Amino acid sequence: MTTGTSPDLSALIARMSLPEKIGQLTMVTGHWAVTGPRADPLSLATFRDGSAGCILNLWSPEAMREAQRAASEESRLGIPLIIGFDVVHGHRTVFPIPLGEAASFDPALWQETAAAAAKEAAADGISLTFAPMLDVARDPRWGRICEGPGEDPYVGQVFAVAKVKGFQGRSLDDPARLAATAKHIGAYGATLAGRDYASADLSESDMAEVQLPAFASAVAAGVAAIMPSFNDIAGLPSTANAALLTGLLRQRWGFDGIIVSDYNAVAELIVHGVAADHAEAAALALRAGVDIDMMGGSYSRGLAEALVRGLVTLPEIDAAVLRVLRLKERLGLFADPYRGIGPDAEPARVAHRGLARRAAAAAMVLLKNEAKALPLSSTGGAIAVIGPLAQAADDMLGPWSGAGRAEDCVTLLDGIRAAFPGRTILYEPASGFDSAKATMALAREAEAIVFCGGETRRMSGEANSRGEPDLALAQRRLATKLIATGKPVIAIICCGRPIVLPPVLVDKAAAILVAWFGGSEAGTALGDVLNGHSEPGGRLPVTWPAAIGQIPIYYARRRSGRPADARQHYTSKYLDIPVEPQFAFGHGLGYAPLRFANAQVDRATIGPGQSLTVSVDVVNDGNREGATVAMLYVQDPVASLARPIMLLKRFEKISVAPGAVATVHFTLTTDVFAFLGIDMERIVESGRIDLLIGGRAVEEELLRLTIEVTGGRSHIAAASVRAAVNR
Ligand code: NOJ
Repeated sequence: MTTGTSPDLSALIARMSLPEKIGQLTMVTGHWAVTGPRADPLSLATFRDGSAGCILNLWSPEAMREAQRAASEESRLGIPLIIGFDVVHGHRTVFPIPLGEAASFDPALWQETAAAAAKEAAADGISLTFAPMLDVARDPRWGRICEGPGEDPYVGQVFAVAKVKGFQGRSLDDPARLAATAKHIGAYGATLAGRDYASADLSESDMAEVQLPAFASAVAAGVAAIMPSFNDIAGLPSTANAALLTGLLRQRWGFDGIIVSDYNAVAELIVHGVAADHAEAAALALRAGVDIDMMGGSYSRGLAEALVRGLVTLPEIDAAVLRVLRLKERLGLFADPYRGIGPDAEPARVAHRGLARRAAAAAMVLLKNEAKALPLSSTGGAIAVIGPLAQAADDMLGPWSGAGRAEDCVTLLDGIRAAFPGRTILYEPASGFDSAKATMALAREAEAIVFCGGETRRMSGEANSRGEPDLALAQRRLATKLIATGKPVIAIICCGRPIVLPPVLVDKAAAILVAWFGGSEAGTALGDVLNGHSEPGGRLPVTWPAAIGQIPIYYARRRSGRPADARQHYTSKYLDIPVEPQFAFGHGLGYAPLRFANAQVDRATIGPGQSLTVSVDVVNDGNREGATVAMLYVQDPVASLARPIMLLKRFEKISVAPGAVATVHFTLTTDVFAFLGIDMERIVESGRIDLLIGGRAVEEELLRLTIEVTGGRSHIAAASVRAAVNR
């Protein structure tokens, strides 16, 4: 193939042998050589003979040139490679983990960090990222909760659009952008008991209203690729789920991109127990709609045999090949297989450090701030920095570190040192019994203690489910001793999930700040927040449990016929733990005393085709600028199906000058009141709707407006004999 032109793809397919076609559907992995990731000699040979057309886990300009040269200049048909990588929360510059980014509730920022990551990754020769991860997760035992937008489907939708726009830009042939992959469709976030890769078994309405909306938004935003989840729903692994991948995605939603399997997921259909061998596994996946077999385990070994057995047809293979080639064409790879590689990306990386700093501060959630313990004064006595995460550069990278390097990360300790030049910073590297004694001596000597605890990055992410997501025993003991000194303790919690905090910290710490895994500038951003240069910008995108037994816990639960009532025994509660979370969805404190007031709506009724505008004032009673997130939730008190107590439908991050009032406006149409009815159709019902406006999802704290929806169905008449269970 001559470079610089776009081929006639159908004519190209007509020239391809069956092994070459299967090669286009096969993604192999790079490996780690001494100097970094490379395609091994075997992979280079498979690119030359056309038996692999895609690769993952490869980056760096040199390795990319070598691989693309083998495919596009040294193979019979000269078809370039798609090169994929998990550019999830940054590439060389690492941004906060997605759950942390979600906490910033800032779609412009979400888009900006994705665009920056795309730019760095594209310069390294990557063309496809396996991101954004859009699995709504309500179980912090699941390690992968850190990779996504949290518990709320609407946040997931907004996150999806921002990330797709950020990674992909206006056109995929922009050499500074990547094709994005919305993953992992199929209720991966609903994995049972939070155990990774485990089954999901959920209702059709949970699937439609909780798990799928973010994927629908990604498709509407033009996402180039979709990855099905590893797990199964009621026995059907997503990799073989034709109703989901073809019926819903392609036929109903009109998705015309590629579907790429998860790592070895096609071959794992055998282990799931739905395919007897590779030929059956390959046939199930291809017929369900999977175009690319990541790792190639089954397509390369079984697809030809599946054809012989009549389990798949040649037109089905050709259709998948065409979709893969079309993506290569859209990426501009036929015109330039070396698309985007180099020149030196250093200047962009330097520019991205400021963005990383801003994003990390915007993600931090201040859970507690007793007597305005934070921000800390720039002058005063010594500050002791204590705890296992204080000097943990590598952990700041979080679970998907991309091409990030620990040596590029600013540690929490270094950030604090830089932020408080006028105060003595005491620190003792922790190891052994003597250092424990020395640590306590520092604590007693200091005026304030910054405790840096939480999880290491290897405790979150894939295959890192935790049955007991809490603070490790050694840290609980250390925290107890620090509190016992009587000095103010500022607890910094690094984590990939909400972790149950010990009462000693919840009750007695002066402040608790969730810093997640903040990325390359984690420490600098912490310094900015501790000295008050930046607001702690985050609000919880996920409910923070008070006890492990509450999990799964989320704000959008249904009320039940017997809501919890401490005075009534036969109500929905526990004997031994509270029902209320430790911190609600949306919780997070700022430094300025902001409050919501004067909620208004411009009309009292709304019908089909009409819109209404809600406004609310955000008042800053303080003397410093502040920022908060205005949230609008919908409550449907009487419907044909019991609805969640409230559902987030709009949010906006807003800054307010000292002493000023800013007004936020939200425009709504009746689709925000729609839900999946008893007949599994999306319906809007007439009647009362309450709009709850303010911050965190605590019903009694929110401002309430009541409106009337007209022109919808009646909740009584909607009852039907076609109930889902009887179909
Ligand atoms: C497995 C993970 O589930 C998926 O999210 C990721 O993209 C692939 N591995 C490739 O690394």
